[in-house]
Amino acid sequence: MTTPALSQDELKTLVGQAALQYVVPGEIVGVGTGSTVNKFIDALATIKDQIKGAVSSSVASTERLQALGIQVFDSNEVDKLSVYIDGADEIDGAGNMVKGGGAALTREKIVAAQSTKFVCIADESKLVQTLGKFPLPVEVIPMATQRVIAQFAAKGGKGSIRLKDGKPLVTDNGQYIVDVTGLQITDPLAFEAEVSQWPGVVTVGVFAYQRAQVCLLGTASGVKTLT
Ligand code: 5RP
Repeated sequence: MTTPALSQDELKTLVGQAALQYVVPGEIVGVGTGSTVNKFIDALATIKDQIKGAVSSSVASTERLQALGIQVFDSNEVDKLSVYIDGADEIDGAGNMVKGGGAALTREKIVAAQSTKFVCIADESKLVQTLGKFPLPVEVIPMATQRVIAQFAAKGGKGSIRLKDGKPLVTDNGQYIVDVTGLQITDPLAFEAEVSQWPGVVTVGVFAYQRAQVCLLGTASGVKTLT
């Protein structure tokens, strides 16, 4: 008899639970955003008495953490974090990622930058050779959207404003998201450095400067650790 393959949701649960091994007892942990991180938050709640609390990367994660009785600290109240745990939309073999599918990329990058180690949790569908197949999220100040879209067009990318209920989605920071298709990001560091300097770009969803040091990848044969 063959064992049925695990669903994507079950793989997310597996990696969410596996991430607990990186949580340092007595400390504050950096927490990302998304459906995989939600599994981590649920697992974190089972050891909440062993941690001081969390710094969160979105309103959604903050609400989930608090609902489960985990104290959330403002990032300004906290110095360095030992570990930041978050998902990704794409990750390559070197730990470079595309993030922002949940529109939380700016706060995610801030908390990641505050942390010594980024542990990425993802199911195996997220592992890629080259970043760019997933539409690249870019958080943009509304008045700059058309010019930023034109700058991506000059690079061969097609940008569009992310909508919610027929209107531009507004992020936790009051800005818009432009999603860009058609890119092949072969040099993530150079790409992130360049786009981050375009006027009106708040955050580009390439995480190369804040790449993951560890990736816990949910696969059919269990959790694989990539370092
Ligand atoms: C949110 C993110 C998420 O980490 C990314 O979208 C992955 O989400 P999920 O775990 O739901 O697949 O960057 O802004």
